[in-house]
Amino acid sequence: KQYSVVVPAAGVGARMQNRVPKQYLKIAGKTLLEHCLENLIRHPAIKQVILALHPQDPYFEQLPLAGEPWLQRVEGGAERADSVLAGLEALDNDDWVLVHDAARPCLPHQDLDTLLALARGATGGILAIPVRDTMKRGDGHNLVLRTESREGLWHALTPQFFPLPQLKDALRRALQASVRITDEASAIEWAGGKVNLVPGSPCNIKVTQPDDLILAEFYLTRMHD
Ligand code: C5P
Repeated sequence: KQYSVVVPAAGVGARMQNRVPKQYLKIAGKTLLEHCLENLIRHPAIKQVILALHPQDPYFEQLPLAGEPWLQRVEGGAERADSVLAGLEALDNDDWVLVHDAARPCLPHQDLDTLLALARGATGGILAIPVRDTMKRGDGHNLVLRTESREGLWHALTPQFFPLPQLKDALRRALQASVRITDEASAIEWAGGKVNLVPGSPCNIKVTQPDDLILAEFYLTRMHD
């Protein structure tokens, strides 16, 4: 069985302090986006990628993979959730769908296998990692208000994997209600659905700060050894 992946890549990368959005920064001679997409399509369970791009994206067209038949482009929106919804709306006949960040080029195929196994059950889920560090609540001015328990806390990663009709409906309704949605699971939770936590690998980082590029390059070379 094969699935479609929606990849939101319409962000402008404000946290990278760079003119070029982070998905277009290069490691090992290729952009993060190319690494990410090529890694996805290499997996036998992936049939196509729906890529949400910024309406004025000047970079994508330059990439060698721009004309690939397994790649469909849609126009992204103001927030990540709008971009994802635009991608989901390009799909009709899928029963389940994956959503994966463009800024995560180091997803191990084994993690994807584990996540896809969820489709045998009734509800979807996400890759996630238990929090390791002690968690502090700050007051907004670099002072600690209190220590939060890290018991039961997880980092939510991507891919996230849900039945298409359920995810589309949850995202539409959550956006309409102006609920803050930072990943697909938050829309499902808000709509009352169940989300499984699937333990993933720490190498599946989201490139967010400049230093993350070095780490991503390290993981990428190790993945291809
Ligand atoms: O900014 P953040 O790291 O949370 O972005 C996660 C992913 O969502 C990135 O791949 C980014 O390009 C994408 N995004 C998007 N549309 C937006 C904002 C972010 O597709 N409006």
